[in-house]
Amino acid sequence: MRTEVAIVGAGPAGLLLSHLLGLAGIESVVVETRSQAHVAARIRAGILEHGSVEVLTDAGLGARLRAEGHRHRGIYLQWPHERHHLDFVALTGRGVWVYGQTELQKDLVAARTAPVFYEVAGTRLHELTSDRPYLTWTAPDGTAQRLDAEVVAGCDGSFGPSRAAVPAGERRTFERTYPYSWLGILAGVAPSTDELIYAWHPNGFALHSMRTPAVSRLYLQVPAGTDPSDWPDERVWSELALRLGDGERGWRLTPGPITDKSVLPMRSLVQAPMRYGRLFLAGDAAHIVPPTGAKGLNLAVADAALLARALTAALRERRWDLADAYSRTALRRAWRSTHFSWWMTTMLHATGDPFDAELQLSQLRWVTSSRAGATGLAENYAGLPLAP
Ligand code: PHB
Repeated sequence: MRTEVAIVGAGPAGLLLSHLLGLAGIESVVVETRSQAHVAARIRAGILEHGSVEVLTDAGLGARLRAEGHRHRGIYLQWPHERHHLDFVALTGRGVWVYGQTELQKDLVAARTAPVFYEVAGTRLHELTSDRPYLTWTAPDGTAQRLDAEVVAGCDGSFGPSRAAVPAGERRTFERTYPYSWLGILAGVAPSTDELIYAWHPNGFALHSMRTPAVSRLYLQVPAGTDPSDWPDERVWSELALRLGDGERGWRLTPGPITDKSVLPMRSLVQAPMRYGRLFLAGDAAHIVPPTGAKGLNLAVADAALLARALTAALRERRWDLADAYSRTALRRAWRSTHFSWWMTTMLHATGDPFDAELQLSQLRWVTSSRAGATGLAENYAGLPLAP
């Protein structure tokens, strides 16, 4: 087989890139280790930045998002006895959209025009520094496959083969792990809030998010390595009630049936550069952020948009300047999001150190009382331009 762009990974980065290339008349083929059902069912992020929604809308992918998603003006930040609303629209002119990654994934699959091969095994990337790179893999029926291309896009996450295909001497990896995780639940109950609540509490961070008018998504900070079976449903709801301030100023948290419970590790990772010869990395293959800033999916959308533009210039006009600038441009944005995610994470998570706790509360008071402080948060949460 031959194509113009061989894409490794059929998550949002890979499928959006394929879609954007298709709009520009560029052929691609996507390979994916997992089954289509597995990729579709993965519970991931739920927040799209203003700029991400613009990219999706321009690509003809905005109809269901705008009909079924929910635009939020901002978020609530709280700590015991105080809850403050930050109005991103008033502060920056930009809001965010609540739309599950699972929904976006469905839209991308429905809009797909390029072939996608699922459940492939042993994907390998070859000849990346030549102008004839290729992929090999084993199909589900056991046959050996080869795909020749002009460019390979690695959109296969931090555990996929693309990131590792860059020789050790040609890459730097920057990493931060955190001593805590998030216990996440999906619950079949209407959200108890109109917009997301980020809560600081001495017992640890809690977040009240949502997916639909009938489905809530909530998180609790737990120690790294926590086993979800240590958290029976009643314990989850009583700890959420405590940390989110149930009963304060008349606010109530309504519990409901928990349909999913899992523990998410918190880590940050950046691999640089995001290009090696004809291999370009996009999304989680190049960077992982802790979920506190809601940036992971947005970075994937931004990378796909930038890369599609760069590859269109390279393959249609034989102009490689945007491709040459891709890594630098994408990494600038990735580091901004990495900093913001680290900042939100360290401002909101309990460390057990009273000095940290006082600094966090002081920072929260400043961010919620100073227009400059609030605008900084709002700009990073809702308003990063595509190519800063
Ligand atoms: C989510 O809804 O899953 C979500 C929302 C905001 C975050 C992280 C996760 O910061």
